[in-house]
Amino acid sequence: MGRRTHVVLAAAAPALLLVLLRLHMAVAADPPFSCGAPSSAAFCDRRLPIEQRAGDLVSKLTLEEKISQLGDESPAVDRLGVPAYKWWSEALHGVANAGRGVHLDGPLRAATSFPQVILTAASFNPHLWYRIGQVIGTEARGVYNNGQAEGLTFWAPNINVFRDPRWGRGQETPGEDPTMTGKYAAVFVRGVQGYAISGAINSSDLEASACCKHFTAYDLENWKGVTRFAFDAKVTEQDLADTYNPPFKSCVEDGGASGIMCSYNRVNGVPTCADHNLLSKTARGDWSFNGYITSDCDAVAIIHDVQGYAKAPEDAVADVLKAGMDVNCGGYIQTHGVSAYQQGKITGEDIDRALRNLFAIRMRLGLFNGNPKYNRYGNIRADQVCKKEHQDLALQAAQDGIVLLKNDAGALPLSKSKVSSVAVIGPNGNNASLLLGNYFGPPCISVTPFQALQGYVKDATFVQGCNAAVCNVSNIGEAVHAASSADYVVLFMGLDQNQEREEVDRLELGLPGMQESLVNKVADAAKKPVILVLLCGGPVDVTFAKNNPKIGAIVWAGYPGQAGGIAIAQVLFGEHNPGGRLPVTWYPKEFTAVPMTDMRMRADPSTGYPGRTYRFYKGKTVYNFGYGLSYSKYSHRFASEGTKPPSMSGIEGLKATASAAGTVSYDVEEMGAEACDRLRFPAVVRVQNHGPMDGRHPVLLFLRWPNATDGRPASQLIGFQSVHLRADEAAHVEFEVSPCKHFSRAAEDGRKVIDQGSHFVKVGDDEFELSFMA
Ligand SMILES: *[C@@H]1O[C@H](CO)[C@@H](O)[C@H](O)[C@H]1NC(C)=O
Ligand SMILES: *[C@@H]1O[C@H](CO)[C@@H](O)[C@H](O)[C@H]1NC(C)=O
Ligand SMILES: *[C@@H]1O[C@H](CO)[C@@H](O)[C@H](O)[C@H]1NC(C)=O
Ligand SMILES: *[C@@H]1O[C@H](CO)[C@@H](O)[C@H](O)[C@H]1NC(C)=O
Repeated sequence: MGRRTHVVLAAAAPALLLVLLRLHMAVAADPPFSCGAPSSAAFCDRRLPIEQRAGDLVSKLTLEEKISQLGDESPAVDRLGVPAYKWWSEALHGVANAGRGVHLDGPLRAATSFPQVILTAASFNPHLWYRIGQVIGTEARGVYNNGQAEGLTFWAPNINVFRDPRWGRGQETPGEDPTMTGKYAAVFVRGVQGYAISGAINSSDLEASACCKHFTAYDLENWKGVTRFAFDAKVTEQDLADTYNPPFKSCVEDGGASGIMCSYNRVNGVPTCADHNLLSKTARGDWSFNGYITSDCDAVAIIHDVQGYAKAPEDAVADVLKAGMDVNCGGYIQTHGVSAYQQGKITGEDIDRALRNLFAIRMRLGLFNGNPKYNRYGNIRADQVCKKEHQDLALQAAQDGIVLLKNDAGALPLSKSKVSSVAVIGPNGNNASLLLGNYFGPPCISVTPFQALQGYVKDATFVQGCNAAVCNVSNIGEAVHAASSADYVVLFMGLDQNQEREEVDRLELGLPGMQESLVNKVADAAKKPVILVLLCGGPVDVTFAKNNPKIGAIVWAGYPGQAGGIAIAQVLFGEHNPGGRLPVTWYPKEFTAVPMTDMRMRADPSTGYPGRTYRFYKGKTVYNFGYGLSYSKYSHRFASEGTKPPSMSGIEGLKATASAAGTVSYDVEEMGAEACDRLRFPAVVRVQNHGPMDGRHPVLLFLRWPNATDGRPASQLIGFQSVHLRADEAAHVEFEVSPCKHFSRAAEDGRKVIDQGSHFVKVGDDEFELSFMA
């Protein structure tokens, strides 16, 4: 999701302020709702199917009323008792006031602020992701029921694959792997919407509505003057099929998402919001999407104003409504919709279809069932917001995401009794709001890392060292002095929202400004090897720190949210054993030679193009996807008992085809669901914690092909689970392997195929081979 341009925001500000003030004086105990008074209208009749109720309401609206409903700020239709509705709310990692629908400046002034998504992802723990979604759904209702929200449609999760390390919004995503991103999407959405974590989605009611964004191939803000508004992403069928679209498919099919947002960019020339093939054929057709589609903010306007794809504003309106989009974030359709209709560019049915989708969501949220207080979710009160269990979960998420990248000679954990003094140094060490990343609301608590460390060491000093993460003004002398006078040194470096955020991609992958030099000089002056904590969303090239023996440990803590400072201190002092793993590849600085605009996932050795992400990248790395240390040692092996691969041969009548490169493969669709079901098998991994500490440990299962020619990934994550093991405890972790899903790869035309011959299922250093032969 995006913000409107600065110009629009500035122009709208005074009017908006007045509206907000008025609202707050009028905050009622009841949230807005319809159908309170006895009514004979069919749209109020709860016994009727939602589609029928929505259709009835739409049929009662005039053309002007209809068009007025097609913007994110939909006005009231008083004569029908329909209140105003605000479609735009945000809840990326906790209920936020970043959109327009939620107001955290009434009696409720905060909500639980979880870590930024990239850190939560590093836990590799879907159960945790689900519970965070659940808390967001609950707190959203708490805020709504308290009269502090004008909508329950939240524009999260952001599930674009983190394709390029420079992307300013990579921090908002679950990382670079499409399978993992798809899993995150599904369980997060289920949590927010009030569904069970798995199994069939058996209710159309929504606790709150989640939205899969930004559909699709959106992952560039502004790179050397190429902006997201103007960018035309050239994407192959193959990359679309196995990288860009799978998270959205999973968000819709497995998560039952009720919203999709189409993005700013074009894909192969067509603006995504104007792409019938994408919105109607793929999402609504192939994936059976049942919900509403919103544009990113002002994404309809840019189709005409920036991209020139539509000749007139009315053409932009027609393009998106005919493609299957339902609501525009912004006022463009509200402004140009009537004339588009009068000019015959859109039909009444184009408008009504969109409106039926929109009102169906409001009805599924229960907002046309009389006072929500007396309905499902009506008893969720303000005391649910920021309650202890929710805040504990925010702490757990930060603890379980933190990744230990280097730990030489047992530099960590620190022992409370041995550390008599500590110097905390760095621009990221004492700033609580920096811990929140972007798209946050006011957190329930604010504790900086320095404040948290003061709880462990009485003699703690803080020196900022430089002005901010940009680090173009420094006082290295002061930092060096503090370092040489203390027993221990902990540095807090990395990035902040001036370096990476919406509309800002990085141009460099190293630590900004004078940070490297500050770290090295402090390390030289310190009595013992120093500890380097990195706060950043995107990866940084810290090869210098990896190789410097005076830097004893490196910890990556993302943007860890409201409890992040506490979690970091607990990890440093061994009260929590770190088990997070990197959800993205950390590339060396030289990667910036690759144009960010090149969307190809696969390497092209003939031009030196290295490819992207662990699945295709052929260059050197700083740290690999899935990397992370622990204070304990773990081992894994496949357990022969329980692992029962069936014979991979004998599917009758299946024709093999040979690619130009000579690979022989089978079409998964042709194999059919029944054969695919027959091939499924359990793989059991025995994992042991050899101590010395208890810990949570993600077990990652990969598929490896014998070679990475002909567009095959080098390897692919096919399953992951997080297990808690006491020191010296062992456990068996079972995965279901489905060859149709897990052994298949996208052919050049996007079809899913399984290669004839060898495949290797891999966990840690152990693997077994399976040969596929129909
Ligand atoms: C949906 O299924 C879950 C899990 O089986 C069950 O607990 C729940 O009551 C069901 N909800 C409805 C509305 O049927
Ligand atoms: C703290 O960090 C936030 C977010 O990056 C930034 O806006 C703010 O200026 C910082 N505060 C200080 C005192 O440096
Ligand atoms: C430091 O960088 C910021 C952001 O680029 C810039 O606005 C500021 O002028 C710079 N300050 C100095 C002293 O170079
Ligand atoms: C690579 O592996 C595929 C699939 O097993 C096989 O068909 C192909 O011959 C192999 N190619 C090379 C160059 O080894």
